[in-house]
Amino acid sequence: MDGNGRWAQQQGKVRVSGHKAGVESVRACVTTARKMGVKALTLFAFSSENWLRPEQEVSVLMDLFMYVLTKEVKRLHKNNIRFQLIGDKSRFSEKLQKQIVEAEQLTKNNDAMVLSVAANYGGRWDIAQATKKIAQLVADQQLDIDSIDEKLLDQYINLADLPELDMLIRTGGDYRISNFLLWQAAYAELYFTETLWPDFNEVAFERALMSFSNRERRFGKTGDQVKAEKT
Ligand code: IPE
Ligand code: MG
Repeated sequence: MDGNGRWAQQQGKVRVSGHKAGVESVRACVTTARKMGVKALTLFAFSSENWLRPEQEVSVLMDLFMYVLTKEVKRLHKNNIRFQLIGDKSRFSEKLQKQIVEAEQLTKNNDAMVLSVAANYGGRWDIAQATKKIAQLVADQQLDIDSIDEKLLDQYINLADLPELDMLIRTGGDYRISNFLLWQAAYAELYFTETLWPDFNEVAFERALMSFSNRERRFGKTGDQVKAEKT
């Protein structure tokens, strides 16, 4: 979700008003995803590197996060959506951590869609934390080193219980992944758009989904093989 600050600047407003406007896009995308039958939606809300922003902006983002979490969780629950946070929770305030756990608890049995919010998250962090868990098992002699392979590592990376990542959308006109779901994005379709996040509404999201359904996914095979499999 990129482009909040630029959106605000374009309108002659302070950056944080862009973040507030961005919340509307979050609502629109969650609703649209649920309506279109998307099984899992993961939003990159705050990266491990975003702490480096001016203190005041970080603080507004945290307040906004807390506000949205408190206000919207009931609605998620009503729509049978499971909420989870991926990322290193330990750096958030105790109050926020408590709110996150409560939201996860309340919605844990919902099964229409999984909404994961990545906060204090980084793709490299994700791979490192998985590696650490596996290393611990080896050190405790609960795991043989020869059984470490992609499949095993995959189980310790975040979102392991979700379907394979199909598509990764980046708004705001930058053409990079910026340490998002590095491991999970191996075969994801990448979708980049100039649209700034606060302008990324239902129509824009549906356009992205449409583009996805028109792509041929080969997973390393030839186009002819894929066509033959389909018939
Ligand atoms: C994305 O918008 C939101 C967060 C990272 C929290 P930005 O704040 O990065 O907006 P730009 O890139 O400055 O326009
Ligand atoms: Mg940005």
